[in-house]
Amino acid sequence: MSSRRHFFDNRAAKWDESRTVDQAHLERLLLPFAYELGRAREVLDVGTGTGVLVSILVGLAPEARVVGLDLSSEMLAQARFKHPTVSLVQGDVHALPFEPCSFDFSLCCACFPHFEDKSKALEGIYRTLRPGGWLLILHTASRATINAVHTRAGGPVARDLLPSTKETVALLAQAGFEEIGVEEEGDRYLAWGRKNEATEARG
Ligand SMILES: C[S@@+](CC[C@H](N)C(=O)[O-])C[C@H]1O[C@@H](n2cnc3c(N)ncnc32)[C@H](O)[C@@H]1O
Repeated sequence: MSSRRHFFDNRAAKWDESRTVDQAHLERLLLPFAYELGRAREVLDVGTGTGVLVSILVGLAPEARVVGLDLSSEMLAQARFKHPTVSLVQGDVHALPFEPCSFDFSLCCACFPHFEDKSKALEGIYRTLRPGGWLLILHTASRATINAVHTRAGGPVARDLLPSTKETVALLAQAGFEEIGVEEEGDRYLAWGRKNEATEARG
């Protein structure tokens, strides 16, 4: 079993107690994408964990089927308890178990730093997006804060760092994304990109 999976499995039962999530803050971060989410038919929450983002997504994307994917079966067990009707899939972002062009919107909330091979992860997310689909990477704290938290946590996540703006833009572009943006402020880290609308359905 991967050491990161073990790390998150071990923390799953207490995750919601230990991670104080400001749901209103998360909603604010998603608001600029409310139009796209509102039109989505399939939404993928990568690294869904205990499903922190799921209830917000269900509200913002009422027409969509929301799918949560996570490496950790224990995190998913917590999510399943809270969201029994949502589709939750155990899997690795580096080998996404979905057909090309399956989703209109994919999100990575507080999980991008943990992806060992970010190029491969982004390529997979790109492939499973429909033409015109969006990816949003989001954190409710600055890059410096996130990186410090992981360094302090130590173990398998000690070196799970958010790349600089320049590196993130390059990674997104390399995976094929367009309309790329990165926003770094005191209480947020957002990065987004869109799959070209004219891309052939082969992904
Ligand atoms: C910090 S938690 C965030 C969970 C949730 N999105 C949230 O905002 O509370 C990171 C999550 O990413 C998952 N994760 C880490 N590496 C992954 C991978 N390679 N594929 C899928 N999920 C992964 C972990 O299991 C964990 O549940």
